[in-house]
Amino acid sequence: MSFLSDQARQTLAANDLGHYTIPRKMLYPFQWNWDSCFAALGFAAYDEKRAWVELDSLFEGQWDNGMVPHILFRSEPATTYCPGPDHWHARNPAGIETSGISNPPVAAHVIRQLCENTGDTEQSRHKARTFIPKLFKWHQWWHEKRDPDMSGLVFSYHPWETGRDNSHDWSAILKHIPKEGLQPYERKDTALIPANQRPDQSEYDAFMALVQQARSLDYDDMALYEQSYFKVADTTINFILSRANQDLLWLIDFIGGAAFSAERKVIEKRIALSSGALQRLWNDAEQAFQPLDFSPCTGARGRHTGGTSSAAFLSLFAGNLRPDQIDALSGLIDRWHKTVFLLPSYAPDGAGFSPEKYWMGPVWAIMNYMIYHGLRTCGRHQQAANIATDTSLLMKKGGFAEYYNPIDGAPLGGSGFSWTAAMWLHWLEPLQNSLSDNEAQRLLYKAHQHNKS
Ligand code: GLC
Repeated sequence: MSFLSDQARQTLAANDLGHYTIPRKMLYPFQWNWDSCFAALGFAAYDEKRAWVELDSLFEGQWDNGMVPHILFRSEPATTYCPGPDHWHARNPAGIETSGISNPPVAAHVIRQLCENTGDTEQSRHKARTFIPKLFKWHQWWHEKRDPDMSGLVFSYHPWETGRDNSHDWSAILKHIPKEGLQPYERKDTALIPANQRPDQSEYDAFMALVQQARSLDYDDMALYEQSYFKVADTTINFILSRANQDLLWLIDFIGGAAFSAERKVIEKRIALSSGALQRLWNDAEQAFQPLDFSPCTGARGRHTGGTSSAAFLSLFAGNLRPDQIDALSGLIDRWHKTVFLLPSYAPDGAGFSPEKYWMGPVWAIMNYMIYHGLRTCGRHQQAANIATDTSLLMKKGGFAEYYNPIDGAPLGGSGFSWTAAMWLHWLEPLQNSLSDNEAQRLLYKAHQHNKS
């Protein structure tokens, strides 16, 4: 086993609390939804059983209405993270304390990967059969409760739900979130990580005000739809959900399908509806996909947020794009090359780009993973290889960091991060031989860029 694979396993082991994994000790001491799904991919590289345990435990948090929450507060109240369960005041029917919002629905993709990797065994078919109803219920919640008008695009009511907390996509909205009556709280993150790598105080106040508002509305889907200060049709959520529906269909076919033929029809209709609606995220003037802002506090009424984040490329993961859109996105990746390490989370030539600040510029391995798959599906193999190579160079240089500076490659945020280690084990380690020539070229390219600057 290579040194890095050994380190990656140790990283997962250090964050493994038995039947679920935390993203990183102290900084994120609970079970996070999409982190847990990606961690399962990492476990699957050497312990398939443990991978399934991870997913089982995540779905134990599912609410009656189908939502799978973004955090499950399972361990003792941790004093190193805010907001904890006392701020959210939410629990599911099984009594597990949770947050009151969801997260990008990557579980269907992960479960499909597990089944594909294991092959057609009794175990994988059994697991697929158990997860199909749970996934169906979760996706149904998105489509029915988060899109009551059946527009084909689902809404999100908190930046944390989108997984891209302080993306510049939200900057203009966060400024307008009413903060009167915000109850006192104590931030913990900046005691652990330099403040310049974390969201600003005013952004954090807005995050907390949104938690407070959602709690005061009792997390009622209709009340949130009508009143949430923050209301967006996000690129991360909508593209990943579209992909998730396709993966769910694959799972139904995988087990022979007959038992889920009614669900199959519903999913097919949803895919058809959303594939048209996703086109509304395309900003023709800026030649990129962008979220739509419906927040009452900005009065934007469905305007594009403006500016481009890496979530635009998740459209490739969802598929069904026009050839000119694929060309435009691929041209954008070429332009973004000047940051040296692909793929920055925000346009490096855009106002608001900040190479160290969380979702305003740094590279995130999980985003790269999904975009890599999207590029390959569209036949852009060289760009996909460049993204995979850069991600593995970042890990070789800086270990399994939460995120990385796209200009100098420095590791940022928390170290020993679960989902980054998992991306090494599941995605990059198996590619090492095929990437070695490309790695040499990428290193030359980087040296050249470095000398120029
Ligand atoms: C941050 C990230 C989010 C992630 C969480 C736990 O909030 O923005 O995407 O799920 O940390 O790692």
